[in-house]
Parts: sequence; C-alpha cells; structure tokens
Amino acid sequence: MNLNAAVMGLQWGDEGKGKVIDYLAHEFNVVVRYQGGHNAGHTIYYQGKKIVLHLLPAGIFSENTISVIGNGVVVNPLQLLKEFEEVKANGVILRNLELSIHAPLILPVHQELDIIFENSRYVKIGTTRRGIGPAYEDLTGRRAIFVRDLFDKDQFYKKAKPLNDYYNQRIRTSTNGGKEIPIESYIDDYINAGQVLKYFARNTVYTLNRYFREGKRILFEGAQGALLDIHFGTYPFVTSSNPTIGGICTGTGLSHKALGKTIGIAKAYTTRVGGGPFPSELFSDEADFLREKGNEYGATTGRPRRVGWLDLVALKYAIMINGIDEVFITKLDVLDEFDEINVVTAYETSNGEKNQIFDPAIDYLEQVKPALHPFKGWKKNISDINNYNDLPREARDYINFIEEYTGVPLQYISVGSERHQTIRR
Ligand code: IMP
Repeated sequence: MNLNAAVMGLQWGDEGKGKVIDYLAHEFNVVVRYQGGHNAGHTIYYQGKKIVLHLLPAGIFSENTISVIGNGVVVNPLQLLKEFEEVKANGVILRNLELSIHAPLILPVHQELDIIFENSRYVKIGTTRRGIGPAYEDLTGRRAIFVRDLFDKDQFYKKAKPLNDYYNQRIRTSTNGGKEIPIESYIDDYINAGQVLKYFARNTVYTLNRYFREGKRILFEGAQGALLDIHFGTYPFVTSSNPTIGGICTGTGLSHKALGKTIGIAKAYTTRVGGGPFPSELFSDEADFLREKGNEYGATTGRPRRVGWLDLVALKYAIMINGIDEVFITKLDVLDEFDEINVVTAYETSNGEKNQIFDPAIDYLEQVKPALHPFKGWKKNISDINNYNDLPREARDYINFIEEYTGVPLQYISVGSERHQTIRR
C-alpha cells in the first residue's frame, strides 16, 4: 500500500503549508519540495520561535526525516546558505538534506530581470521579485544553469558568462530600472556556495525512486497554490511553476505511482498577494479586521495580503484538478469574532446567469459577482479545542457545509499556529 502523501495549497498560496507539513512530517521518512523557489515562505513555530523557510523543506525540523529539494525547484545558492545558517542557529543539524544536482539556478541577473519585466508590464503581477520567473524562463528557453554546474568554476563561467552578458546588455538598454551585474561580482560567491552544497548534492531522481522502492513514506511539500499555477491559475497573475499535482512528477522524477494520498490545504477564508482577480475580496472594516486577526502579511515580502471570504467555487475547482482526497482547513480560529461569516457558492455572470464554474481567464473572473451564503458566527475562542465535537455548533455547521459542497472530507482543522492546535478527525 502506498502511504505517501502530497500536500498542496488550494488557493492563492499562504494557506498555512508550513504548519501543516511540520505537523505531518514526523509520520513520514522523506519530505520533498518539488517546485517554486524562495518566493515561498513557509512559517513554522519551532520550540516557541517563529521561523520562515523559503527553500528548505519544512521537514527539516523533524530529526529523522530526509529533506529533499527536488529538480523542479529553482535554487538561489546564496539564499540557501543563508537558510542553513538560520536553521542551524535554531539547533537543526543538517544531516539529512539532499539537493538535486538538476535543479536550475537563480542568478543575480534574474532578480534584475524580474524587476524590469514587472515594470514594463501593462498589468502588474506583483511578483516577489526573487527572479523566479526569469529562472524558469531560462529552463524552458534551454539555457538554464544547474546546481551541478556550480562544482567547476570553468564550467560555470563558460555557461553563465554569455547568458549574463546577454542579460546585462538587455538591462543596459532598459528604461524600466534594473542594474547590470557583472559575473565577476558573484562568481566566487556562487562557486564557494557550491563547495558547501556539494556535500548535499545528489541525483535525487535516483535517491527518491530508491526511497520509494524501499517503502519509505514520502511527503510532497507544495509551495504557492493551485490558483497560482502557470497552467491552471489566473494567468498572467500566476507564478511560473506547477503547484498542482503534475508538478510533483516533473519536479521529482517520481511517477504517478508514488503520489499516494492528496491532501489539499485551504484557509477558512481567502487571501491573495499581488495583482489579479479575486471574486470574494473584501474591502471594508471586515477586511482590515480579518487581515489583522489573521496576520495576513506576506511571509516573504511583508506585503499586506488582500483578504476575502472562502470561495467554494474556486476551492472545488482546485480540488478537482488535483484529485484531492482530504482537506486540511487552516486558521478557523481567525473567524472566531465574526457575527456573520460568508462563503461563495456561485458566480453570477454579467448576463445574470449563475454558475459554479471557476474559469481562470481573468476577463471572466473580473466580471463575475459572488453569490454569498451567510453563516452565524460562533463568537467563541476555539484555539484550545482539540476535539471536533467540542467545536461550537456554528463552527461545525460551517465545516459540514464546506464538506457537502466540495464532496471531500475536512480531515484536519487548524485552530492556531502551534503544532498541537490541530483537530484531527
Ligand atoms: P513570483 O512567484 O515571484 O513570480 O510571483 C508571481 C505571483 O505569485 C505574485 O502574485 C506573488 O505574490 C505570488 N506568489 C509567489 N509565491 C507566493 C507564495 O508563496 N505565497 C503567496 N503568493 C505567492
């Protein structure tokens, strides 16, 4: 029996994946990141301290777990070393870490290009400006530099120099900001980082397949969320990778046979950072309250997140495209003080029709009006409850409604940021 599990965000990211992975990790032998890069910010409370991971898998805090950064992740080596120092300062021993030699690198020029592209767009995506998009563009453009290229300075120079020159030329003629970055200004830092990373570097396609054959339990750690997917999200307001199910196979080298159970994470309401359509968005005092109570500020960029009600039309779409078996709902406690809570059950289109279709095309989503279903709030602090039946009736009504609408069980309910503040049904 396959006891692996894939955990992925079902909204626009920031669903609380850090906590969820940290909560589940001890049941698994291996935790793997398979897409995205340090645009992610997975927040974990470890021994009472808040730690934000960007590249390291959230399994790093579970002592006997093997943590793998797969080939689908774009890696900024200097950022990775910075994270090494941060977790080491918190008592983590980096014994069981593996980094794919086939992961594409983010170069300093990629970050400059991210700024230029963003400034020159007629619509602002609001990227994290970490160079994620330009690095993935190099991959599909068949000119990427990989982790494996870091181990030989001549090889790195031979590959990176023409690319770096080409981008610097582009930056020089840009009227949209960005600064030229000569390769000489970072090559030694990158090569030195490579000497440290070499210790962890593996052909993870083979190590992961071996772990699978040996029956080790593997947890796949998604970053971002389904609605930010390059293919299925609200394009162009998306990230450049596949946070959806297919990203696991392309980002690890494991086949569909290794996937196991799919656990989707959804916040009890919705947030979004950056631009793009958001049918259930709130703007009023309710929005400010939700943002403050939920501490909805970007873990990576500190930007205030846009907030709104839970959108069940969008959630059902994300569940469908990922084949989700169970949902882990997070931050239910943030709704504790509301007199009334709403969820979106349908969209009303400009010609007055109601439907339950999440078509990610922005022309469609920008014109739909959400049909809301109201719930009476429970007006009670639920953050210490650890038994489902002890939840107020109104909270259980909310949970049951979501289950019925989506047809998927809400197996876990998070009522606070600490590991133990989780109700398992
Ligand atoms: P990029 O991934 O930096 O290219 O940004 C593209 C879009 O994805 C922007 O709207 C970002 O705010 C959003 N995004 C990227 N990573 C995350 C994340 O981890 N959480 C939430 N939003 C994200």
